[in-house]
Amino acid sequence: MVKTKIDISRALTYVSRQVINLYHTKVNDLIDQLISKTGKGKEYLGWIDLPERLSSEDIIRIKTTANKIRSNSEIFVVIGIGGSYLGARAVIESLGHHFTHLNQDQNNPIILYAGFNLSAGYLSDLLEILDKKDYSLAIISKSGTTTEPAISFRFLKTHLIKKYGISEARNRIIAITDSSNGALRELADQEDITSFVIPNDVGGRYSVLSPIGLLPIAVAGFNIDDLLKGAKAMKEFILNPNNSSENPAVIYAAIRNALYKEGFTMEIMANYEPKLYYLVEWWKQLFGESEGKDNKGIFPSGVNFTTDLHSMGQYIQDGPRTIFETVISVEKSNKKLQVPFDDANLDNLNYLAGESVSSVNLKAEIATSLAHVDGGVPNIRICIPEISECVLGELIYFFEFACALSAYTLGVNPFDQPGVEAYKKNMFALLGRPGCEKETKQIKKRLE
Ligand code: PA5
Repeated sequence: MVKTKIDISRALTYVSRQVINLYHTKVNDLIDQLISKTGKGKEYLGWIDLPERLSSEDIIRIKTTANKIRSNSEIFVVIGIGGSYLGARAVIESLGHHFTHLNQDQNNPIILYAGFNLSAGYLSDLLEILDKKDYSLAIISKSGTTTEPAISFRFLKTHLIKKYGISEARNRIIAITDSSNGALRELADQEDITSFVIPNDVGGRYSVLSPIGLLPIAVAGFNIDDLLKGAKAMKEFILNPNNSSENPAVIYAAIRNALYKEGFTMEIMANYEPKLYYLVEWWKQLFGESEGKDNKGIFPSGVNFTTDLHSMGQYIQDGPRTIFETVISVEKSNKKLQVPFDDANLDNLNYLAGESVSSVNLKAEIATSLAHVDGGVPNIRICIPEISECVLGELIYFFEFACALSAYTLGVNPFDQPGVEAYKKNMFALLGRPGCEKETKQIKKRLE
């Protein structure tokens, strides 16, 4: 049995049971295409088996490397962009302390991220911090040629060599990349740097349960066995034909596509726990890059409630009626806090004295969902009992499977991203990259 549940009852005013059932059958049939590897992007289906694909030796190697980093580093820098860093960040931030940087537990290095922007300010500030701390880094890039992480790595590698000397610097770099191709593989092999492999048949945004996600998560001090266990439980549940009517991945893919057909073209993923911010960022990348192609796809966006009820809440309640909302609802907080009694009661809050803050949060969630449904926004709830490694493993696998099914239902290839090349082409032309001379001339002319 899995702990993650889906509730679509608050979407039913906007799409009939009959239409949902039609989509349910269609989506359910598509599972076969994933399992038999006959659908679009069939060469990138290695993620399906990631929960049990790593051998116990692989897992031990990840943990041994993580322990070494934990013993000699106050900071661990994860360099990567898109699928090469978002999954690790989603899990680490969901499980960590909200103020981890101010509450440094001596046993856990602080995880910092680089290579996901081109900001000189960000990189300079990071280097300034690294001057004063012992650190190690992971450069994560499947292609090994992505500009943002490659530039950051150049700076950090130089910094590391200056700080520790070449031999110790090599000891503090981990490369996670392709098994045989690319600049990073060459570097790892030539300079005898510890490296892990990104499987050829796993794309970046489906890679969190590979060393890409597992190494940083283990360095941060979280339990990767439980994460994989949760993912495995979800895999078994999803692939068990006896669970067809309750299969959360099928239900989610079916309701999304049924709503899309009714003109709901934007999905807002809402959380009521600030720690889940990066989980939503990861989800946005997973669905946005997988579905948005061939002029089709639901636009994925995210909000943090109750914070954004005082900003985006207005748009959701009253703006164009093309939005549906999916809420990650956490049943139990691992922190107990009760609203205190106040003698003066100037804020008139004594009616809440003794009430737990989590219960106030839950009531805000129910109240908001009902208001949004009444205002024309269908609501889906993804219910989890708590935020833990096991539940996050379930959630990750559930979203990945649902995303592949949803994209197949739309008729697009979930595993490519041809659209991300357009900006790169222009950027390389503007930067005057060798081999782009013709494009450089053309783009410069456009800008005259
Ligand atoms: O999901 C994807 O494939 C992308 O987001 C990639 O992960 C991202 O572009 C980084 O690519 P690479 O790992 O080759 O540097």
